[in-house]
Amino acid sequence: MAGLLSPSVMCADLLNLNDEIKKLDSLGVEYLHIDFMDNKFVPNITFDTNMVRSFKKPMKNIKRDIHIMAFEPEKFFDAMEIGEGDMVSFHYEASDDAHAVIAELIKRNAKPCIAISPDTPVEVVKDFLDEVYAVLLMTVYPGFAGQPMAPGSMERLSELREIIDKSGKDVLIEVDGHVSWDHCEEMRERGADIFVAGSSSVYGKDYPLDEAVPRFYSLVK
Ligand code: DX5
Ligand code: ZN
Repeated sequence: MAGLLSPSVMCADLLNLNDEIKKLDSLGVEYLHIDFMDNKFVPNITFDTNMVRSFKKPMKNIKRDIHIMAFEPEKFFDAMEIGEGDMVSFHYEASDDAHAVIAELIKRNAKPCIAISPDTPVEVVKDFLDEVYAVLLMTVYPGFAGQPMAPGSMERLSELREIIDKSGKDVLIEVDGHVSWDHCEEMRERGADIFVAGSSSVYGKDYPLDEAVPRFYSLVK
């Protein structure tokens, strides 16, 4: 399967989101990465639940890839209208019953994903490989765009790939954070499937969006 792209909308032109989403849709991008932050699990706030819900309006083919950086993530599912087709990541570190959160996402016909921050040992995912669609490997500390890659992220990516392959489960890996032009090919080689592209690639200053997207695909096919 070729690499899938999930541009991080918090890095987009926030005053023209309707046009941005339509453009991504026309470029054939699979996902829109929507970061939701509660200012408790991470010291930042991005979009509220109304915005997360309204992103659906201009979407024809592109799907929501909702990354919930919040304690008690299940509290927000109704307000976000999470359902069929949505890929939803919540943090292992932010939930005291991750299995229950995954079960709720499955009940809503969403694609459940578990996210782990850079200081969380990769092997914790072993408990969830029977239930999740993907693992979201944070390659920066969650909370802000524009950060450098967390040390050891590439090694963690290979370790995660090995754990999933050994399990025999068909679980994808999404990488999120400083997925840059320089790093994306190596991330692909080390086993990443879905790429959250933000300020260091697709939303960087090097190329306009309609050049950056095909260029990114050519690097991660
Ligand atoms: C950070 C978010 C990322 C971020 C990526 O907490 O989860 O999705 O927007 O931005 P860059 O690509 O600039 O690291
Ligand atoms: Zn994210």
